[in-house]
Amino acid sequence: MVVTKFLDKMEKVYHYPVMWQEVIDSLKLIDREVIIDCTAGLGSHAYKMIQASEKNSFLIGLDKDSQSLKEAYWKLKPFEGRFVLLQEDFINLDKVCQEFDIKKADVFFFDLGISTYQLTNPQRGFSFLSEGALDMRINKDNFLTAFDLVNNLSERELVKIFKKFGEERYSRRIAHAAVTHRQKSLISTTTQLAEIIEKSVPVKSRFGRIHPATRVFQALRIAVNRELEALKIALPKAINLLKKGGRIGVISFHSLEDRIVKHTFKNFASQNLLKIITKKPKRPTEEEKRINSASRSAKLRIAEKIG
Ligand SMILES: C[S@@+](CC[C@H](N)C(=O)[O-])C[C@H]1O[C@@H](n2cnc3c(N)ncnc32)[C@H](O)[C@@H]1O
Repeated sequence: MVVTKFLDKMEKVYHYPVMWQEVIDSLKLIDREVIIDCTAGLGSHAYKMIQASEKNSFLIGLDKDSQSLKEAYWKLKPFEGRFVLLQEDFINLDKVCQEFDIKKADVFFFDLGISTYQLTNPQRGFSFLSEGALDMRINKDNFLTAFDLVNNLSERELVKIFKKFGEERYSRRIAHAAVTHRQKSLISTTTQLAEIIEKSVPVKSRFGRIHPATRVFQALRIAVNRELEALKIALPKAINLLKKGGRIGVISFHSLEDRIVKHTFKNFASQNLLKIITKKPKRPTEEEKRINSASRSAKLRIAEKIG
């Protein structure tokens, strides 16, 4: 009974992508020709987008993670001939468009961060809840891992990363504890790091609303994958490649990403190139947050190309 309920919940989490109805409605997919899903993941949003668009649409799905794309392929198979999936960083979306001879696209969509599928796989090293090597690379072909950062950066550099990308209040204490620990032995697993963090923060923060390791793990993941740099570069590229009347949608999961999206949209809007559709970002319903707790912090921003 418990197992069935758990499986039922995971089915919903994996197959009901975050705010999909809001995404479909606000991207106005009918009559679109070229849809670019910059973070195809398991293909769940892509499935909904192809399904919602007319038969002459074609979707290009990008993702840095080859493992996720294999899953996406099986999900999208019923639409064979109407999509292509590429293992590619969205920072290169302009090169992809060039390769496919696409001058302008109708829709760009980004669903940032990592998926539950990636987070819950201990071998990927993203989660402090399960034991795994400190990896955190979205693209396994990349060189740098979280292990490299945690064991090689100076204490000052670690503080900077924890503060900047995690907005972690106890950055100094945590960095100091990590550096002290690694002088004796290297920090090689997720749970080892989580324990070091837990022990270094004040007792009251060990039992807060979120696990004390949450922000540091987020910070390391962002640093390993250079997530914010990629977003800052890719968004203007996508907006420049949008057709007049085309729409861009971005789901972000923390304030640093959302700030970039908001400012980039504002910047293009001030040049009369973009109309911001969501003055305030759309948020998931209470029902969605209940079913999929990972959607809790999601913010969806939509804009339309006008110039
Ligand atoms: C939240 S998941 C997307 C889930 C997807 N919308 C779905 O329906 O299954 C985010 C995805 O973005 C991918 N990703 C993160 N940064 C990327 C980048 N710079 N370029 C391409 N893909 C990226 C991750 O590998 C992950 O699969």
